[in-house]
Amino acid sequence: MRVDANVPLGDGVITDDGRIRAFLPTLHAVLEQGARVVLASHLGRPETPGDPKFSLAPVANRLAELTGLGVHLASGCDGDSLGQALSDAAPNEVVLLENLRYDPRETSSSDEERQELAREWSQHVSFVVEDGFGVVHRKQASVYDLPAMLPSVAGLLVEREVAVVTRLTKDVEHPYTVVLGGSKVSDKLGVIEALVPLADSVLIGGGMVFTVLQVLGHPIGKSLVETSQLEVVKDFLDTARSAGVDIVLPHDIVMASGFSADAENEVLGIDELETGPNGAEAMGLDIGPSSAEKFASIIEGSKTVFWNGPMGVFEFEAFQGGTKTVAQALSTMQGFSVVGGGDSAAAVRAFGFDESSFSHISTGGGASLEFLEGKVLPGLEILGWQA
Ligand code: 3PG
Repeated sequence: MRVDANVPLGDGVITDDGRIRAFLPTLHAVLEQGARVVLASHLGRPETPGDPKFSLAPVANRLAELTGLGVHLASGCDGDSLGQALSDAAPNEVVLLENLRYDPRETSSSDEERQELAREWSQHVSFVVEDGFGVVHRKQASVYDLPAMLPSVAGLLVEREVAVVTRLTKDVEHPYTVVLGGSKVSDKLGVIEALVPLADSVLIGGGMVFTVLQVLGHPIGKSLVETSQLEVVKDFLDTARSAGVDIVLPHDIVMASGFSADAENEVLGIDELETGPNGAEAMGLDIGPSSAEKFASIIEGSKTVFWNGPMGVFEFEAFQGGTKTVAQALSTMQGFSVVGGGDSAAAVRAFGFDESSFSHISTGGGASLEFLEGKVLPGLEILGWQA
């Protein structure tokens, strides 16, 4: 069972176990069928094979805590390690392979290398359950080549994620609001292009808003700006305008003297961002409270909302107001509310919101965005789920 247990770690401790909890229904369903289960996942992007910082040991422990199952962590991730783990583990234990990216063949661009690794695994297992939605956009040995060799099905999480993303692009209930944040416009261009024609309103916050404000001629002080994207943003604004989409930008910003938790800060109107606290040049680290309220009321009046990317540097208490207000509005709105992307999902959990008050919190960052953009995702294509 390919899962995405690529969870955030701080000093070896899992800081958000949402991605592990998300595949448990599938794990239980497969176990109920009487199958012996091998779980396989990557964690981060290790550059040195076997780098202990990237071990799945914390995942094995958390999984055992959450399920009460015995979890046997293999010593490696290749075919021999899998064979060894299956003979060492007790019959009722779940086997967890070590980080798949410890073997460079997992992510190799050579078809032969990836297939060689997949062939090794295929000697020991009979079926593949693809439940790692967060990684279906990667053409990797475990995501693409192994399912090509064995009977394979999508797991419950993949099924749910695909249904949700499909509902955001087809038969959408209006008013449809798309809320975009995060630091970079360039990460969101594809999704902007795909969703803007479908949406009634697009609300923009986070670091990416300063590139938009710059294009519109507002002063932005020393806020983050992607100069390579100015032309693209200009085109996007023109397209949106001619399509009649309401692009809503913040009218106030929390400006800070520097990028730190205790930076001095001040809420300023959009035309007075040249300077911040004490008249010094400043950077915007959150949307202001009045803008956050405006965003919240648009969200509350919507029937469908897709939110991707925090409104500010929510990791610092002084700059989490915008993200919190948006999360609050999504959690209480009547309609279909989807939180997508690792940072927004992490924010919602860090603030302690009840996850069931959102229609869906996606486990896929890049995968959700690429799916929304209409790209073919290798992990779904190989299951016959995408033409
Ligand atoms: C993610 O965190 O988006 C997935 O786990 C995929 O990870 P990757 O971007 O390193 O392939």
